Amino acid sequence: MRKIKRNILLNPGPATTTDTVKYAQVVPDICPREDEFGHLMQFVSSELTSLVADIEQYTTILFGGSGTAAVESILSSVMNDGVIVIINNGAYGKRMCEIAEAYQLDWVEFLSPADKPIQLDQLQLFIQKFPRTVSYLAVVHNETTTGLLNDIETIGSICKENKIIMMVDAMSSYAAIPIQMSKMNISYLAASSNKNLQGMAGVSFVIAKKGELGKEKKTKPINYYLNLYCQYKHFNETGQMRFTPPVQTIYALKQAILEVKEEGVKERYERYSQAWETLIAGISRLGLKHLVAAKHHSKVITAIVEPTCVAYDFDSMHDYLYANGITIYPGKLNYLNSFRVANIGDLTKDDIELFLTFMEKYLQSIGFYSAN
Ligand SMILES: Cc1ncc(COP(=O)(O)O)c(C=O)c1O
Repeated sequence: MRKIKRNILLNPGPATTTDTVKYAQVVPDICPREDEFGHLMQFVSSELTSLVADIEQYTTILFGGSGTAAVESILSSVMNDGVIVIINNGAYGKRMCEIAEAYQLDWVEFLSPADKPIQLDQLQLFIQKFPRTVSYLAVVHNETTTGLLNDIETIGSICKENKIIMMVDAMSSYAAIPIQMSKMNISYLAASSNKNLQGMAGVSFVIAKKGELGKEKKTKPINYYLNLYCQYKHFNETGQMRFTPPVQTIYALKQAILEVKEEGVKERYERYSQAWETLIAGISRLGLKHLVAAKHHSKVITAIVEPTCVAYDFDSMHDYLYANGITIYPGKLNYLNSFRVANIGDLTKDDIELFLTFMEKYLQSIGFYSAN
């Protein structure tokens, strides 16, 4: 197998992949309506479920699309009656509000600071004092804007107490940060193939409680391609997706699943956490600060405060690192200038050390140390 040039992707997905995942896409052409391909999708679907739930009670519905497709599918398919509370403490919580607005759902925002844990007693009070019945709640697990890890287990118990159906965007936590859907009271979870799963981009999926999927909807559908129930029903009846699946991405996903099972989710998270510890120690050694305290941090993506130095410029820093095989990502906060470094994918702490070496050279080149 010829080695493929390895780039160190420190953007929050698509992540650095193994050559075996890359090569898994090179397969004989196949029509995805063949049984052979159906069996592959069945394998992928049940393995994805088993990483977070019991396959007897939960199932995975696959879509061709980026991660947002799964989030949008849940929001636009599930609501029957009552109000949905959407927790917004970063760009991805805000995106769920935008989706809810686009579909004209009956939604209300619970706004919370981007760098601090959610005040769970305030959330409880908000739900109980709300003048109408709250039937659903949507929350992002790991807010990729900052790396703030929301306490979905406690939010799940608040939902249970108040008979609320919980939906979780687990895009940047799934397959690294342990999740137990049943224990956490999660009815619907959204994730994708190209972050901690270390697969290729193009598969978006919803893991759902079979009991919820089986319930009769009282309202008329407001979506089409992303209709969760139709996609579920069609797959159950035919073993196929309703529309053309991303064939080669699914072959790569199978390989990525085999690799995460071989490594173990817990062990993958330990590897990521080691890389994160290296990153945090390194940036503070370089004189930079990060936003979220370790206690509330996901340890997979970090928002770093931009250096205060006249010669600093994100694009030139990005280009310098990019020329050396390392990709970083801009920030997404509007009240503070930040940039982001993710430590997911087929990486180790040595890759982070290399990033820190180049980062130090960049900071020296712009006179950061003489200015401070
Ligand atoms: C928490 C979260 N939700 C949703 C998305 C959207 O995923 P995509 O860009 O694949 O649509 C991302 C992407 O980074 C994310 O981190």
